[in-house]
Amino acid sequence: MYLYPVWLRLWHALNAVLIIILIITGISMQYTDKEDSIFIVSFASAVKLHNITAIVLTISYIFFVVMNIATGNGKYYRLKRKNFFSDLVKQMRYYAYGMFKGEKHPFPVSMERKFNPLQKITYVLTMYVGLPLIIISGLGLMFPEITVKKAFGVSGFILTDILHITTGFFLSLFLVVHIYTCTLGARPTSLFRGMLSGYHEPEED
Ligand code: HEM
Repeated sequence: MYLYPVWLRLWHALNAVLIIILIITGISMQYTDKEDSIFIVSFASAVKLHNITAIVLTISYIFFVVMNIATGNGKYYRLKRKNFFSDLVKQMRYYAYGMFKGEKHPFPVSMERKFNPLQKITYVLTMYVGLPLIIISGLGLMFPEITVKKAFGVSGFILTDILHITTGFFLSLFLVVHIYTCTLGARPTSLFRGMLSGYHEPEED
């Protein structure tokens, strides 16, 4: 089943590399200082690399949104109200219990349904809430003159920074959980191979 077109695979690979660079340089900036300590890269290199990578990520994100609309891949991201919570519970039950008992996936992949309910909500939150938030707050930190001066009596710059770091934390958490759930296909490597070849390997009966 051909589910991952070339543009999506190229975007995904670039996006993964960029996010990993941003996490490493972000942590580096948070835990080192301008003078002596170094975490993988020096403070000055981390700032430079973080800014350049962030600009490339912003462009690649716009590409993702435009292509999702233009190619119809966006239909897989549309949330439906019907059975929203009960479907989520079914999928959670499968991850917490059913899969260890050898049960079948409750929402098998098809051309109409690429993501299970839990994947769908996570991808929607990551791509349409997390990334816009981190990009907008990042732009606010890059160009402090555009951030509000004060909100609730606190510096707007500090609030923007807190929003940026908190979103970065949740996106890092997403990455760890994402890689783990990507091992839960027909075989542990099936979904990774699918993202490389474009073809989803179906479950055996
Ligand atoms: C080393 C890092 C990563 C690996 C190994 C990885 C692996 C995968 C794999 C195997 C899939 C296909 C399985 C599926 O249908 O879910 C996938 C899909 C996806 N990944 Fe990742 N991923 C990585 C990083 C990221 C990052 C950093 C993001 C976003 C911040 C991301 C967002 C997505 C999205 C949105 C999809 C669904 C794409 C679509 O079919 O429309 N991934 N990933």
